[in-house]
Amino acid sequence: MARVPILAGNWKMNCTLPESEALAGELYKEIGQLDDREVIIAPTTPALTAVARQIDGSGYKLSAQDLHWEDSGAFTGEVSGPMLVAAGCSHVIIGHSERRQYFGETDGRVALKVKAALRHKLTPIVCVGETLEERESGETLAVIERQVRGGLDGLDANSIAGLVLAYEPVWAIGTGKVATPQQAQEVHASIRSLVAELANAEVAAGCRILYGGSVKPENVDILMSQEDIDGALVGGASLKAADFARIVRFQS
Ligand code: 13P
Repeated sequence: MARVPILAGNWKMNCTLPESEALAGELYKEIGQLDDREVIIAPTTPALTAVARQIDGSGYKLSAQDLHWEDSGAFTGEVSGPMLVAAGCSHVIIGHSERRQYFGETDGRVALKVKAALRHKLTPIVCVGETLEERESGETLAVIERQVRGGLDGLDANSIAGLVLAYEPVWAIGTGKVATPQQAQEVHASIRSLVAELANAEVAAGCRILYGGSVKPENVDILMSQEDIDGALVGGASLKAADFARIVRFQS
């Protein structure tokens, strides 16, 4: 089954509202309209509505960087699924390693958030990844399996078909150290077999699994040529319009 590639830019905690509008505008100028790949932009929460307006008609999708699992209530500082939908989002990143590392995100919370996103027809981009210590002690595949099982806990095949997964080795994020195509492919293939077990073979064959961690114009082509890498989740390089445009236009 052909999987449409996804190129997603996670802006993290960067860009004020006017800067976000300017960057979204520049991106459209550099990339233009594409129909053989999906472009997703994940700005900060205060910039979502403005960027939604900016990319209206471009075909690009808008993603949030996190959400709360309740729809509303006394949860100071949090943002809910209905709010993201109203702001124009179609996607939401869940379980990013920075949230796991700095904000106490657990697999259990990831599972609650995934269910909340699906309930509101937001496509979750569920992130998993091992630390350097875990890789060096040979635990990579076990850690990834635990995170995928934990994050997708309680979902049926239909729900699993509605999400995107992202493998982001923690040691490759923002460090300039990219996983080798073989290292990434090995983990992506193991995630796909796990999806087959948790859902079924058809869902696994259609599931988009993105790679993230120091993706740059120089390495995107070789990463995208791997059989089980279906796209990229890009941090630093997504803040430079020309670099992100080259990543979107990967050739494999
Ligand atoms: P970098 O591309 O800056 O390494 O970040 C990757 C990432 O965390 C995307 O979510």
